[in-house]
Amino acid sequence: MTLIGTPLSPQATRVMLLGSGELGKEVLIALQRLGVETIAVDRYDHAPGQQVAHHARTVTMSDPVALRALIEAERPDLVVPEIEAIATSVLEALEAEGLVRVIPTARAARLTMDREGIRRLAAETLGLQTSPYRFCDSLAELQAAIAGVGGQPGIGYPCVVKPVMSSSGKGQSKIDSPQDVQAAWDHAMAGGRVGPGRVIVEGFIAFDYEITLLTVRALGEDGQVETQFCAPIGHVQVSGDYVESWQPHAMHPAALARSRQIAKAVTDDLGGQGLFGVELFVKGEQVWFSEVSPRPHDTGMVTMITQWQNEFELHARAILGLPVDTALKSPGASAVIYGGVDAVGLVFDGVDAALRVPNSEIRLFGKPESFVKRRMGVALVHDAEVEQARVRAKLAASLVRPRVA
Ligand SMILES: Nc1ncnc2c1ncn2[C@@H]1O[C@H](COP(=O)(O)OP(=O)(O)O)[C@@H](O)[C@H]1O
Ligand SMILES: [Mg+2]
Repeated sequence: MTLIGTPLSPQATRVMLLGSGELGKEVLIALQRLGVETIAVDRYDHAPGQQVAHHARTVTMSDPVALRALIEAERPDLVVPEIEAIATSVLEALEAEGLVRVIPTARAARLTMDREGIRRLAAETLGLQTSPYRFCDSLAELQAAIAGVGGQPGIGYPCVVKPVMSSSGKGQSKIDSPQDVQAAWDHAMAGGRVGPGRVIVEGFIAFDYEITLLTVRALGEDGQVETQFCAPIGHVQVSGDYVESWQPHAMHPAALARSRQIAKAVTDDLGGQGLFGVELFVKGEQVWFSEVSPRPHDTGMVTMITQWQNEFELHARAILGLPVDTALKSPGASAVIYGGVDAVGLVFDGVDAALRVPNSEIRLFGKPESFVKRRMGVALVHDAEVEQARVRAKLAASLVRPRVA
């Protein structure tokens, strides 16, 4: 049974979001609607989620001392990581001390904070099909991993190099020939989250399409965790960053069944309660596990227009022990609105024109500072036909023109 207290009273149910960007903002809104007291944490002031929470805290969450001090001072009932760059050792320690419940679990946050933990779990422990991969700590190791050594076959070409600590395609590149290896290594070193370090090199999978399978672990009536799936989300990534997504993505029934098996295996192992974004590559009936977010997924923003309960509401309900409904409301699509300029305090022109696109909605995240490739908003469109929704979402996104005030 779930008890929800009154916000700002001693009975309050207090939830702390570690990371308060556009995804955290929507989780916070969903929690607010359920009468939860919210604490939005980010590394900078006026982050999107901080603008809709009861309390805003600005802290470097990768700093273990600062993170522990924050959680001990606030004593939230739940700690909900919304980004990867968190001192997860502190979360594991506090969870072990029984001081907080981490969503979905502190171990899941640790395993998914870098590519190595989750890849080894999926491929080596769970035996799921992934791209072939190696981890490398130097250019020489990378060259050897691709070319092979001592008669051992290497990963070969084409392949993809990524810093183990990075997201949204940062520091990632595709390599087609030996001439590209040095540049890929340099790019990875510049783009990783924490200084020079380790990379993963993966064989390139020539998939037909890729999907995100939103998977929810929520309590059933009997108090046991049940796993439910949303309709598959198709998406397009440019340089490793999501630019548009749609739902549902039509799939061969065998590929869908395999995708669900993989998602179930990974999320069963990670455990806890909440929503996960399982990324999969599909070719015919073959499915490869790519990675998983133990939290709402950027491509899942489309669910703000396609589902009765969007991925943020599903996450909020699941973590509070409430029932969820993953049903689709309408097919639809999302398209990202980028900043297009490096500037503070943008103005957005053309929102009216964008909202005249039939069946459209616009979300502006309210980020104080824009970069050329920073996601500043998203256009959402529902339509009986996914293809029509995609065309209109891209049109609506293009009509919003961010500019310097
Ligand atoms: N081994 C691969 N083969 C083919 N495409 C890949 C491979 N790895 C990544 N990609 C492409 O790059 C995108 C981003 O890679 P991903 O590992 O998901 O990084 P991030 O954590 O930055 O999202 C994927 O969604 C896919 O489109
Ligand atoms: Mg990804």
